[in-house]
Amino acid sequence: DSISVGIDALAFAGPAAFVELADLARARGVDPAKFTHGLGQNRMAIASPCEDTVTMAVEAGALALKAFDVDPAEIGTLIVGTETGVDHSKPVAVYAHDLLGLDERCRTFETKHACYGAMAGLTSSMDWIASGRARGRKALVIASDIASYGLGTPGEPTQGAGAVAMVVSDQPRLLQIQPRTIGDYTRQVMDFWRPLYSKHALADGHYSIQCYLDALKGARLDAVGERHDLLDSLSACLYHVPFVKMAFKAHQREMEMELGHTISKAEAASWQQLTESYERLCAPWLTLNAEVGNIYTGSLFLALIDLLRQAGGELAGKDISLFSYGSGCGATHCLGKISDTAGRWQSALDPTPALARRRRLTIAEYESLVRASEAADRAETLNPADFGLSGGLYYTGTRNDRRHYERG
Ligand code: CAA
Repeated sequence: DSISVGIDALAFAGPAAFVELADLARARGVDPAKFTHGLGQNRMAIASPCEDTVTMAVEAGALALKAFDVDPAEIGTLIVGTETGVDHSKPVAVYAHDLLGLDERCRTFETKHACYGAMAGLTSSMDWIASGRARGRKALVIASDIASYGLGTPGEPTQGAGAVAMVVSDQPRLLQIQPRTIGDYTRQVMDFWRPLYSKHALADGHYSIQCYLDALKGARLDAVGERHDLLDSLSACLYHVPFVKMAFKAHQREMEMELGHTISKAEAASWQQLTESYERLCAPWLTLNAEVGNIYTGSLFLALIDLLRQAGGELAGKDISLFSYGSGCGATHCLGKISDTAGRWQSALDPTPALARRRRLTIAEYESLVRASEAADRAETLNPADFGLSGGLYYTGTRNDRRHYERG
């Protein structure tokens, strides 16, 4: 494929606090191993009322532009993919456009399809570039979400919050995506949704796992057909990660498609083949997801950051697969090649120093933040210092029906 378009810059930004899942398990009377081993999650990022989809999107966007030395004037398309918009009409993207200081000659919009919005934005911006319409400019695609299911629900341990920003260009320094390998899938299902009146998502949890796996099968078939040798040619398989164990289930489904039969623990040889393949192609790149939790639109791209920060140089020139799933549902499976220059950016995109500075919440603090966040849209004045926050961009309340953002 001669067209070289893909991801040129990447950055993650998230809330200042987290919950340790073992603490949550104890508070809910659940064996901690269910969350840490059964779901594969260690921690989840928790947003305070002053940290919303806009503030996280802007922090991630600013980091990506700065760390990769991209001039804001070079951005000709800005897309924010989110399931947690802050307004029924006004897009998060237009707040971000202003707060990032982008040029007026910029196409700016928000995409919504549960966790699929950022992949939709990525492929759309690739098409924008490949068509020639970009005229040499780049796109900025930001995934920003707060995953919230409500206290005491089955989804509670699979919450999280954060944003991933990516610059898309025709000279991508990190990952080239081959347009001919992009496969798509859509089906109307009620596996996860959020009615207009609800701050919390509703999910038919076990059914949503089946929908995800069906979508993986459908999108992969559209992408590469009945290939039986794809996994052998790859150096990593990245999946949408609502919780880490889901990536294992996804990898099992891909391997079953290749082998042409189901895999179960009862058959030791194929189970060992699966676990070895998972340990090589998936597990090393899931450490950030295990720390941050589900960030919906950004989850797949957080796994990509994890891969590039650890092995961007070592895996230069190698092929990887990416699978994005959004409930409801829509999905894309595609292949990418890690750019020769990726190794130079390993520390530029590494969010681990910021993650190490996060504050651990008690369960009582977490529960009070959740309640305060439920009321935040109608709060007139919010003071970031009340939530232990300083030094960032914050939502400071809605006055005269207008949201206010301030640096503090
Ligand atoms: N020690 C070790 N493991 C344990 C355990 C223990 N004491 N107790 C249970 N487990 C294991 C279970 O065996 C299970 O593992 P397997 O799936 O491999 O069998 C795992 O822990 C979870 O246990 P349950 O299935 O009993 O958990 P649950 O019913 O309480 O809820 C859930 C799990 C359905 C994922 C729920 O957290 C949920 O609804 N989450 C939100 C929806 C979601 O994330 N869906 C994912 C697909 S949809 C999507 O991807 C879009 C999106 O982002 C939302």
